[in-house]
Amino acid sequence: MAKHPVGCLPFQKRCLFVLLIMLSISTVIAFLIKAAFDSCDRRLEVAHKPLHSSLNALSTKTPPNPLTFMKSKQVLLVSHELSLSGGPLLLMELAFLLRGVGAEVFWVTIQKPSETDEVIYNLEQKMLVRGVQVLSAKGQEAIGTALKADIVVLNTAVAGKWLDAILKENIPHVLSKVLWWIHEMRGHYFKLDYVKHLPTVAGAMIDSHVTAQYWKNRTQERLRIKMPETYVVHLGNSKELMEVAEDGVAKRVLREHIRESLGVRDEDLLFAIINSVSRGKGQDLFLRSFFESLELIQVKKLKVPSMHAVIVGSDMTAQTKFETELRNFVMQKKIQDRVHFVNKTLTVAPYLAAVDVLVQNSQARGECFGRITIEAMAFQLPVLGTAAGGTTEIVVNGTTGLLHPVGKDGVTPLAKNIVKLATHVERRLTMGKRGYERVKEMFLEHHMAHRIAAVLKEVLRKSKGHPHP
Ligand SMILES: *[C@@H]1O[C@H](CO)[C@@H](O)[C@H](O)[C@H]1NC(C)=O
Ligand SMILES: *[C@@H]1O[C@H](CO)[C@@H](O)[C@H](O)[C@H]1NC(C)=O
Ligand SMILES: *[C@@H]1O[C@H](CO)[C@@H](O)[C@H](O)[C@H]1NC(C)=O
Repeated sequence: MAKHPVGCLPFQKRCLFVLLIMLSISTVIAFLIKAAFDSCDRRLEVAHKPLHSSLNALSTKTPPNPLTFMKSKQVLLVSHELSLSGGPLLLMELAFLLRGVGAEVFWVTIQKPSETDEVIYNLEQKMLVRGVQVLSAKGQEAIGTALKADIVVLNTAVAGKWLDAILKENIPHVLSKVLWWIHEMRGHYFKLDYVKHLPTVAGAMIDSHVTAQYWKNRTQERLRIKMPETYVVHLGNSKELMEVAEDGVAKRVLREHIRESLGVRDEDLLFAIINSVSRGKGQDLFLRSFFESLELIQVKKLKVPSMHAVIVGSDMTAQTKFETELRNFVMQKKIQDRVHFVNKTLTVAPYLAAVDVLVQNSQARGECFGRITIEAMAFQLPVLGTAAGGTTEIVVNGTTGLLHPVGKDGVTPLAKNIVKLATHVERRLTMGKRGYERVKEMFLEHHMAHRIAAVLKEVLRKSKGHPHP
């Protein structure tokens, strides 16, 4: 969790303090549990399994760790960058899962700023503490590690640049054990510069079926290359998040704190969109829907609690024009007292604890996966999402949420769905519970680990046919 919970007004020192304590307690607990299980598993039946991952530690029915076969295997993880964004953090999670079963894990970051960067430093420290060996992306050590590794994981399409820039004539010795993990779905990644080696790697791992389909089409049509064997691996919620989501007391404290900081009462209805603010994420269209829903409620004289919207992910320095447009809309429609903007934050749990409904309004092809969606479902929130991208594989329309079309065509349907959830309390709560059940069935860390394990096994099997030099 990030160190700076945002969304607290500066003068509310007390709240900030409470929140900080809450978060640091959960972080510390998570850390202690992890530390304990990384070295030895103290749960029940495991005396004969000294190196057990933290994976299974918390579930009562401890299933065998699907990644155990990776023990002593050497894995090189190649990250395009190191930052607090989705791609690198996910790769770090994989690093820790592998460390948890005793794999030897190496990490290189391709793009680093020349001056020292606090975030990078902290993330690297975090990895070193867990036994991940951080190497320079350039130089003999990285090349040597790539050559002797059992598996090389390239994270995101852009990481392909590293092959040509660093491995050069060694590329043919490495490709057969490369697993390419792709999390993006935008046009400018379809460049041969990045992905020309894609057809000959051992496999591609992609976060959703729609994204995999999209890559298949695009590589064929645009670049005339063929995708390698492609595996769809849906992501899972981290254990830390699930702990907060399932802790009633923590949730209540966070809810009270955030609502107080926003000036939203306990009985008010709060709709949230939690994504970095940009046109692609559809905050503008969401605000139009929200305004339309307020009008509908007034015209039909519906009896509903006071309605609020919170937009988490503001960054006035990055998307100034779009941000200004959003704020102007809010002023023009005179809904300033109902719409709240919160700066970008990694600490989403407090907001998930505080709101009633998550809106996932990503436009065009939608999210590649959309991790916030499964995080919200863990907090028993129904999801109002666009019928696009990974959202359609997560949200069951009519059961765990309601889907609306992308673009302007979706504005009125979303407005109606907002009214539906506002007026049907039972339905809203039931959808939230169903979402939580779906997360428990499909979207936990151990589910993701199972899926990844199956892929890694395949890659190992294939690369055995190509003896290392
Ligand atoms: C891929 O191409 C097929 C056939 O051309 C089409 O039906 C499908 O919608 C395309 N999928 C994506 C995700 O673009
Ligand atoms: C949010 O970010 C802006 C800069 O983009 C900054 O001026 C403001 O103080 C931040 N607000 C909070 C509550 O941190
Ligand atoms: C979602 O379900 C509603 C009915 O509950 C239906 O009207 C709508 O067309 C469905 N949307 C999608 C994208 O399936």
